[in-house]
Amino acid sequence: MFVHTSHSAKFFSLIIITPFLLLLSNSHALPLSSFPNVHFRSLNIPNNEHDIPHFRTLNRRRLHDCPSNNPYLQIIVNAVSPLPDEQYISVTVSGVTKPSDKYWVAMISPSHASVKYCPLHSLLYKETGDFSDLPLLCHYPVKAAYLKNDPEFLTCKKSECKKQGDGGKCMIKTCSASLTFHVINIRTDIEFVLFNNGFEAPCILNRTTPLKFANPNKPVYGHISSVDSEATSMRVTWVSGSNETQQVEYGNGKSVTSAAATFTQKDMCGGLVKSPAEDFGWHDPGYIHTAVITDLRPSEKFSYKYGSGAVGWSDDIEFRTPPAGGSDELTFLAFGDMGKAPRDSTVEHYIQPGSLSVVAAMADEVSTGKVDSIFHIGDISYATGFLVEWDYFLHLITPLASRLSYMTAIGNHERDYIDSGSVYITPDSGGECGVPYESYFQMPTSSKDKPWYSIEQGPVHFTVISTEHDWKLGSEQYKWMKSDMASVDRQRTPWLIFVGHRPMYTSAKSALISVDPVFVQFVEPLLLQNKVDLVLFGHVHNYERTCAMYRGKCMAKPMKDENGIDTYDNSNYTAPIQAVIGMAGFTLDNFSDKAPEWSLKRINKFGYTRIHATKEELKLEFVNSNTKKVEDSFRIMKT
Ligand SMILES: [Fe+2]
Repeated sequence: MFVHTSHSAKFFSLIIITPFLLLLSNSHALPLSSFPNVHFRSLNIPNNEHDIPHFRTLNRRRLHDCPSNNPYLQIIVNAVSPLPDEQYISVTVSGVTKPSDKYWVAMISPSHASVKYCPLHSLLYKETGDFSDLPLLCHYPVKAAYLKNDPEFLTCKKSECKKQGDGGKCMIKTCSASLTFHVINIRTDIEFVLFNNGFEAPCILNRTTPLKFANPNKPVYGHISSVDSEATSMRVTWVSGSNETQQVEYGNGKSVTSAAATFTQKDMCGGLVKSPAEDFGWHDPGYIHTAVITDLRPSEKFSYKYGSGAVGWSDDIEFRTPPAGGSDELTFLAFGDMGKAPRDSTVEHYIQPGSLSVVAAMADEVSTGKVDSIFHIGDISYATGFLVEWDYFLHLITPLASRLSYMTAIGNHERDYIDSGSVYITPDSGGECGVPYESYFQMPTSSKDKPWYSIEQGPVHFTVISTEHDWKLGSEQYKWMKSDMASVDRQRTPWLIFVGHRPMYTSAKSALISVDPVFVQFVEPLLLQNKVDLVLFGHVHNYERTCAMYRGKCMAKPMKDENGIDTYDNSNYTAPIQAVIGMAGFTLDNFSDKAPEWSLKRINKFGYTRIHATKEELKLEFVNSNTKKVEDSFRIMKT
């Protein structure tokens, strides 16, 4: 599958392929089978200050330092050090004599990060699939916003007279604007910097003094996952600026000590050219602490907190273990491709606009106590080499992942990178190549970078694979999935659900670049042989479900029950039912004009799926996160 080339051959690929790559690199990475024997490369991009003057000369552009003789220009914030773990900071720019749509403010972290101009960094943003307009600074700013976001700025509704002439006439009028920044504890100090000339050719005008967090070591962003099918032990994972051991205190006086780990820029993937994760997008992740708590009972609430006397403690959090494998009932939420979005009006790299409403709707549902667990099946945070975005993502999912088992599968935006061993040689992970993902979301896998596993909850056996690692006939993963599915005791767990990231079937307009026919060719027979009931995939950003199908054809269609709900009869098993559920945040994908025969329901709205299983029935509902209404439901019956 992989071709090892010489440096000169790689350089050739770089030149030939890059424009093509930039056109096609998006959330739907091309299957390798579409471009055999080709290495994708990024352009040689300046990534240090030494390179920049050379570029300036090449382009014959005058890049100045924003000369300003405006003595009135000020940038102030309504916050002082030390900062709390979460705060909305108001940034006010005043003294602007000529309001324009070119002024903007960035939140920089750490405060000494480069705010110089690196125009070719637009290619590094695009490398990960984000084609929006973003600030072209030499170090990725955490977030940024134009002053025109304040609706009163361009019309100068907030004005001051700085100099009055004869008769009281104002000779010098200045305007101001205020912006809000959602700031969470990212450990490193922050600074707000005022620029002119837009995101595309920024020059610095003014900056605040650095602001420090009160406790960079504070244990934050705790989340929990299952370690086995017994549901008597759970893994707690959190982030802290300190690597000193900490504890989880839980139940009635029990305690367990954490192990701390981290990763560095050297752990990121790159090549001849540094990836965003190695350089421009790097942000120190602090330390990822993890501890397995034991002696729990399945389906039982308990409270816990994590931290230490030295670094402080989290709040007390209430958690419920999932039902044990083989028990009678399970309710879980499943979705793919969620990501994150700012909770203010700023822009940041790779915004997933539906994520906030989906998280809010799921958090409401979790708070009812009726949900047992969550499965997020690839394309997790979309940090894709801009590491500080993991902190914002973990903060976003805390209301879910700190209260229920949050299980994950790996996607292209966590894993893929050139020369990194991923099946698809695209730059979709921005150089992360799975390292941050596997640090934050440690699943019950056999070892590092083998992110496939199975787990049982209630009457369901989940076989979770990585579509980004070799799944060819004879590969380690292929052998594992084959033996895992063959070993399922269908008396104990009557339902077998197969989970991965890239789909086998979609009728989205992007179908040609979203489905790898070689993957379908190799893996689909295993689904049929092992009588998989339901297949869940993401990657395509909509909701679609099929008939019971195999090799592109309907083998059986559901019947309507007395309530008009599509009901599949798996007592007379024919073939797997497949659902694409990548509608949890990323900008939605349109469907082809005409639905194929095998496609029974197509919805391109933001939402998630709610799945309820008993030993006789598996029921899936698509929930629209904005209305909370169920817009599709179906049942699979087994007697
Ligand atoms: Fe994807």
